[in-house]
Amino acid sequence: MEKKPISRRSFLNKVWVALGLVAGAELVAGTVAWFRPRKDKAGGEQQESIFAAGPVDQFERGSVNAFVKGRFYLVRLEDGGFLALSRTCTHLSCTVPWVADENRFMCPCHSSVFDIKGDVIDPPAPRAMDLFDVRIEGGIVRVDTSKRTKRLAFAPGQATYAETV
Ligand code: FES
Repeated sequence: MEKKPISRRSFLNKVWVALGLVAGAELVAGTVAWFRPRKDKAGGEQQESIFAAGPVDQFERGSVNAFVKGRFYLVRLEDGGFLALSRTCTHLSCTVPWVADENRFMCPCHSSVFDIKGDVIDPPAPRAMDLFDVRIEGGIVRVDTSKRTKRLAFAPGQATYAETV
């Protein structure tokens, strides 16, 4: 049986088809990988929204600590309760800094002022600073930034307290 020689054009066509298939497979694999949930190093689902802020005793009463990565302030009230306040202004979403000398949050954009509990002292902000969930587990304060709670004003039930034994 005599073999038919492959023409240069036919050979190049096959190479292009093969390259096209490889590129298509890469595109499909990349798309699937993009939509898959990422795993952390321990093999679990990522929980970047949960922040271990630190041990309860690390936070003085009447203090405000900024967590830049989590975009929140952890407030410890004078009575020992904790609040996690979003640093986003409830007026038009500027970042609100804590001004320790004034003992207030003061928005640089339109001058809204909030007290340590996030309540509005001076508008135009229409409501108190948003809250994130706070949990205290094993003496560690944890903040879940995936759960934002809007509120008009502070109420005592919003604070989280460490269990006293
Ligand atoms: Fe804060 Fe307007 S964005 S006062």
